[in-house]
Amino acid sequence: MRAIILTGDGTYRATELDEPTAGPGEVAIRVAHAGIQWGDTMVRDGHFAVPRPFVPGFEASGHIVAVGEGVGEGRLGEAVVALTTAGAWAEVVVAPAVLALPTGEIPLRTAAGFGWGTPTAYDLVNTATRVRPGESVLIHAGGGGVGTLAVQFARLAGAGRIVGVVGSAAKAEYAGRFGYDEVLLRDEFPAKLDGERFDVILDPVGGLTRQHSLRRLAPHGRLAVYGNISGYEPILADTNDLLMEGKSLVTYNSNLLSRTHPERLADTAARALELLTQERIRIDITAEYSPAELGLAVQRLFEGATNGKSVLRVAGHLGEW
Ligand SMILES: NC(=O)c1ccc[n+]([C@@H]2O[C@H](COP(=O)([O-])OP(=O)(O)OC[C@H]3O[C@@H](n4cnc5c(N)ncnc54)[C@H](OP(=O)(O)O)[C@@H]3O)[C@@H](O)[C@H]2O)c1
Repeated sequence: MRAIILTGDGTYRATELDEPTAGPGEVAIRVAHAGIQWGDTMVRDGHFAVPRPFVPGFEASGHIVAVGEGVGEGRLGEAVVALTTAGAWAEVVVAPAVLALPTGEIPLRTAAGFGWGTPTAYDLVNTATRVRPGESVLIHAGGGGVGTLAVQFARLAGAGRIVGVVGSAAKAEYAGRFGYDEVLLRDEFPAKLDGERFDVILDPVGGLTRQHSLRRLAPHGRLAVYGNISGYEPILADTNDLLMEGKSLVTYNSNLLSRTHPERLADTAARALELLTQERIRIDITAEYSPAELGLAVQRLFEGATNGKSVLRVAGHLGEW
């Protein structure tokens, strides 16, 4: 099969590999589309230790072509979206059967865009911070893959005022289409908020943003930490200060959850897929790339030059890999 590998010098290259085989509890999927997400920039830049060469790609849609021991043959031919730990940027990928979710009527291109980001956004709102009706929510990186979904899930949960924070005026205009009451530029946070505090803050950014966000929590507020886009320096929180105002700091790690409690992640993903099927949320795919363009795709994501979700076209791609 054809696949993309990440080489030791951080570049992507097409190659021929043997097709992976489904082990116990796994399925093999012929890939239609694959997702591109922030984690790909982290792998490229060495923030996740992976052996190289490495076949990247953490999310794929396609059809099940083989099942491993313990997986019913009834699943053969099923259209699925799969959450993987690698390997989705290839013609065939193997995934745990429990994390290969039936997509039903959802187009495979959209299903690839669903990826890890949609269940993450769902869990941030409904499991980690449990947004209640009427609560205010602040969403950093509000115009990216997770951010544009988190605002939709928060709205469905009945949130009151929802504010997004983004890096550019163009991104603010884009993010505004997803139901924010207000979108701030990164440079305007927190000054433009004029003392406003929030019941829930979603923070994948870290650094100064996290420090300011801790101070912007309302009594009983929850700050969800789920990424470190701006860097990895430790941010310390005084638990006594948090206690005095009943505030909580929570973290969310879908990758870890997929290994410790895959059935919980699968349940979240199934709930989110149902909302997508009912068109109560939408996944906005704004960029589709060929395998040869993956280096460009990941760099554009890194530079904040993309909105919403980017995907890779695999099936039917007859051009150069
Ligand atoms: N913990 C988990 O389980 C989990 C799961 C999935 C994703 N994540 C995390 O969620 C975050 C978003 O992932 P994604 O796939 O949605 O990525 P994405 O679509 O690429 O969105 C990332 C956004 O980050 C913003 N950004 C870039 N540099 C920034 C900076 N220095 N400061 C603040 N914002 C910056 C960009 O928007 P602007 O142009 O507005 O700056 C971009 O829209 C990442 O940190 C990722 O690691 C965590």
